[in-house]
Amino acid sequence: MNETAATLIDRRRRECAAVMQTDDARAAIALHGTPVLLLDPSIVVRQYTRLRTALPFVRFHYAVKVCAHPAVIAALAEEGCGFDVASGEEIALLERQGVAPHRVIHTHPVKKPAEIGAALAAGIRTFVVDNEIELEKFRRGGAPDARLLVRLAYRSPHAGSDLSSKFGVSAERAEALVARADAWGLTVAGFSFHVGSQLDDPARFAAAIRDTAALMSRLERASGRRFTLLDIGGGFPIAYDRPVAALEEIARVIRPVLDPLAARYEILAEPGRVLVAESALLVTSVDGVAERPDGRWYYLDDGLYGSYSNVLTEGVHPLVFAERDLIAPAPPRRRATLAGPTCDSADVIARDCDLPDLRVGDLVVSPVMGAYTSVTATRFNGRPFTPVAVLTRVLLHHSRRSGMSRRSLSEAAPQA
Ligand SMILES: Cc1ncc(COP(=O)(O)O)c(C=O)c1O
Repeated sequence: MNETAATLIDRRRRECAAVMQTDDARAAIALHGTPVLLLDPSIVVRQYTRLRTALPFVRFHYAVKVCAHPAVIAALAEEGCGFDVASGEEIALLERQGVAPHRVIHTHPVKKPAEIGAALAAGIRTFVVDNEIELEKFRRGGAPDARLLVRLAYRSPHAGSDLSSKFGVSAERAEALVARADAWGLTVAGFSFHVGSQLDDPARFAAAIRDTAALMSRLERASGRRFTLLDIGGGFPIAYDRPVAALEEIARVIRPVLDPLAARYEILAEPGRVLVAESALLVTSVDGVAERPDGRWYYLDDGLYGSYSNVLTEGVHPLVFAERDLIAPAPPRRRATLAGPTCDSADVIARDCDLPDLRVGDLVVSPVMGAYTSVTATRFNGRPFTPVAVLTRVLLHHSRRSGMSRRSLSEAAPQA
C-alpha cells in the first residue's frame, strides 16, 4: 500500500512510542533530563545497508557534516563506508576514530591553502574544485597526485535546499577548468555534483547523471583521455511530515543510466540525510504555557537555535507529538503554537499543531531529528548544546520483531 501523509504520521508516532517505552530511553531521560537527542546507530547501519543493496556498485562516502556524532562515524566505519569531509575538524574527528585517509574524500569546493596542505598531509587525495583560483591553490601546493573532481551545478528548484548557486559550474566552464588543470599538470579524475538536498525527484537525479556522463564522453572523445571518477553527490530525501520517493525507487530510476557507467568509472556518492535523519529522536519538555490573541502557545526547552535548527537551515517541518499521545491521540485537543526557549520571536518551531492540553513539564517528542540538527545548533541565549544519548539496543526497526530494549545507554557523547 502506498504511504499517505496520514499513514506516515501514524508510522512515525508508533516509532516514537516504541523508542519511548524502552529502558534505554527512560534511562537517558532520567540521566540527562530534557532536551535530549536519543540516537540509535543501528538505524544508520540499516540505511547504509539499504543504500548498498539498492546501488551495489556505488562507493558511499557519508557526508560527516550532517551529523558528526562519533557513534555515527563508528557505526559506518565498521560497515566499511567511506566519508566525505568539508573541514580540517572533520578530518581530525575521523583520524581520532581510526578511519584511514584513503576512505576519505574532501568535497568542499573552496578551501584555505593551509587546509589543502593539511588534508594532503593527512593522506587525503580526492578533492573537489569548481574554479580557477582553487585550481591554482593545488598547483602552488604541489599536489600532482591529487585526484581532482570538477563540481558541476544543476539547478533543482524542487529540492529542499538547492545547492547549485553557491557552488558548481556549467559544462562549458568545467571544460575550461579541465584544460587549465591539464596545462598545470594537475589530474582531473572526473566530475561531481549535488542535485540538491531533500530532492524528491528521481528523474532530476537521473538527468544530472546523464548530463555529466555526456560531458565526460565528449571530453574523452575530444582529447583521448580517460576519466576515472564520477561522484553523484547526496540529496536522497527523507519523509518528515509527508511521504517522499524511497531510496529504492530513486535507485530504480537512476540505475538504467548509472549501471552502464559503472563499467567505465568508479562511482562515488556522498549521502548524508538519508543515512542519519531517522536515527535520532528529540525529547523536549514544556517550559511554559500562554494564551495569546492567536491561541495557545507552548514554550519548549529546545528550539530553532538548538536541535530544531533544521527548521531554519533546511526548511524541515518536524512532526511533534505529545508523549501522552504516542499510544493513541485522545481528546480534548486544540491547535497550538510551539515555540523554542530563546527570547527571539523567530524561535517558533511549528504553528497549528494538533495537541492535547499540555502542562509545564509534559514531554514532547519529535522523530527524524538526526540530520542537520545537533551540528547546526548554536548556544544562542547562553543555552547549552542538547546532549546526545546513544541507545545501544533500541533497534527501531527491530522493535516490533524482537520486543523492547535490554541494555542501557552509553554516556552521552560530546558534539564534534
Ligand atoms: C558536498 C556535499 N555532499 C553531500 C552532502 C549531503 O547531502 P544530503 O544530506 O542531501 O545527502 C552535502 C550537504 O550539504 C554537501 O554539501
